[in-house]
Formats: sequence, structure tokens, C-alpha cells
Amino acid sequence: MALAGELQRDAKATKPAAREFKPVDMPELEYTPGLAKEMAPLYEKVRHVVPSIEWPFFAPYIHAINRLKKERDAVILAHNYQTPEIFHCVSDIAGDSLQLAKEATKVEASVIVQCGVHFMAETSKLLNPQKTVLIPDVKAGCSLAESITGADVRLLRQKYPGVPIVTYVNTSAEVKAESDICCTSSNALKVVESFGTDRVLCIPDEYLAQNIAKQTSVKIIAWKGHCEVHERFTPEELRQYRKDDPNIVIIAHPECPPAVVAEADFSGSTSGMIDWVKKNKPARVVMVTECSMSDNVAVEYPDVEFVRPCNLCPHMKRISLKNILDSLVYMREEVTVDPAIAVRARAAVERMINLKN
Ligand code: 13P
Ligand code: SF4
Repeated sequence: MALAGELQRDAKATKPAAREFKPVDMPELEYTPGLAKEMAPLYEKVRHVVPSIEWPFFAPYIHAINRLKKERDAVILAHNYQTPEIFHCVSDIAGDSLQLAKEATKVEASVIVQCGVHFMAETSKLLNPQKTVLIPDVKAGCSLAESITGADVRLLRQKYPGVPIVTYVNTSAEVKAESDICCTSSNALKVVESFGTDRVLCIPDEYLAQNIAKQTSVKIIAWKGHCEVHERFTPEELRQYRKDDPNIVIIAHPECPPAVVAEADFSGSTSGMIDWVKKNKPARVVMVTECSMSDNVAVEYPDVEFVRPCNLCPHMKRISLKNILDSLVYMREEVTVDPAIAVRARAAVERMINLKN
């Protein structure tokens, strides 16, 4: 049975690579004493979050991926929700959705391997039409992206003529193409207010829209899409954390229901949350978001204690060292966007990126 939001898409649904790539052999994946020695400094960095029993399995993959990246002239972009062995050991650029979209415009390599979900890979492709964009598992979807179609947006435009449509980047290129501008969780308020109108459609994340509505006088019209990871958090759960430890600090992603965000000390995008920890160095903190984030941040801040509610995103977790290596060996799965859709979707993403402060 398909997971909620899982993409019903397979390799055949994407067009074949336009460019020919030299075949390479699958590297040997043996944890030899020599490899163990070479990789020891990297393990030192992640040893608090990667169990020693797993390292002999990960290390040969990491080694092979980093070598093959050079051979393929590839960069790896990784979202903050990727597991630590991906985030810290093979990625070239890591960040939140906005940072990844911005960095994608600056990539010089000819191949991008997107370690994240499909809409992120599509965004990279929109911004790099000449480059080969690969996603290690083409079924890595998103419940928000699956909650709305281009036809839905066209109907909304008919229903609300003249009202600007702001679309969260967690959507397909087809949905972006029907929108006036995109936003991410880190710039949604700025984007909504950029029109100077009294009403704005902010789709498809209902909770993000409601959380933004609390910070602006613009009337926000929402859609009923939800993130299947963040919708599971409850205000009772957060109150229990405080009851257990009155000194605990709670920071939450704005994809959480407003009642959850109201219980938090701070709310921001994944990178906003990381920056908050960096600046405030709390003794104990709960990051109310996807599970791997705390592991990734814990590597950088060993003095901060992270309480880790473990809500995993099953789509983000489709990406593994094994399928990243397969991606580079076999140059799959290539992400393509219909050129007629791409031109309009790109305009919506670029409008967001070019928005002045
Ligand atoms: P950020 O833009 O905060 O990284 O969040 C996007 C997201 O939810 C990815 O799943
Ligand atoms: Fe989508 Fe939620 Fe997963 Fe992010 S965490 S990719 S919003 S389902």
C-alpha cells in the first residue's frame, strides 16, 4: 500500500537523460583496515550520532560516493532532514528549502544529486534546465505536494479573481506554474506582504497559512493540505515536555498546527531553528520537527542536549547512501519538467528568490 503523499511515479515516468554518460563499474564496498584509517577523521565528527556498529557499513559507501562525485562532476544537495551520514559525510550543500533553491542557482557542476524529496529536485531542475538533476529515489514525495494539483489552482483563480496566489515550494512544478510566486517557511510572511493587497491565497499548507495569518493584517485564504510529519505534534505533548522540565526550550516548525506553535518559544524554518540554537545555545531543547534534524545539529553543538521526538518523514527517508551511490553509478533517476510548465514554474520560483528585503 502506498504511504500518504507517496508518489505513484516510477522511472518510466521521467524522460531518459538527454546526455550520454560513460558507464562506470559499481565500486568495491569493503571496509578494509586502510579504508577504516582513511575515514577515521570523518567518523570522529559524527560519532555521537552514528553508532560505531553502523560505520563499517556506511564508510565504504561514503568513500565511493565522494570519489564518484568528482568523476561525474556532480554536487550533492541535501535537505536538513537527511540522515547524518548523508548530511555530514557526502553532501556539498545542505540547508532548508530556500537555501537549497538559492544554492541551486549557483551550482557549477554539470550534475546535481538531490538528497531530499521530489519537489526539491524539480526546483533544482527548474533553476538549472541545462544540468542533469538526479534523485536517488523518484518515489520520495511529500503529503503537501500531493494535496493539490494544477487544476485545483486554476479553480481557485476563478473563485478568487485578482487575489494573488502564493504557493509553498512543497508543490509540483505544475502547481508552481499556476501561481504568482512561491514561498518557503522562512520567507512566507515577506512574500505574502509583498503584494500590498488585503487578501492573498497561501497554498497548500493550511497550518503554515494560519501561522502566517497571525503575524499579518493581510487576510489569508488557505488550502487544506498538511504535512503528515508536523500535523502529528500536539499542544498536550509540548505541555508535557514543559511539565517534565520547566527549563526546557521548545522550537517548532511552522508546518505544525497553530496550537502547537503557540506552545513553542520560537518558530521558524528548519534553518531558522538551527540558527536559533546556534545563537541561543539552550541547555536543553526540543526541536518540534522531523527527527533527523536534531541529530544533524547535535553534531555541531555537542553541549546542547536535544530531546528528540521522533517523527520521521518516510519520503525523506527513502534516500540512503546505497541509492545515492546507485544514482551516481547509473545516472538515475533523472528529473525532468515539461518545458511549457517549466517556464512558468521557474518564473514563480525566481520571483521569490529575487524578492528584495
Ligand atoms: P524548510 O523550508 O523549513 O526546510 O521546510 C521544508 C520542509 O518541510 C521539508 O519537508
Ligand atoms: Fe513533505 Fe512533511 Fe516530509 Fe517535508 S516533512 S517532505 S513537508 S511530508
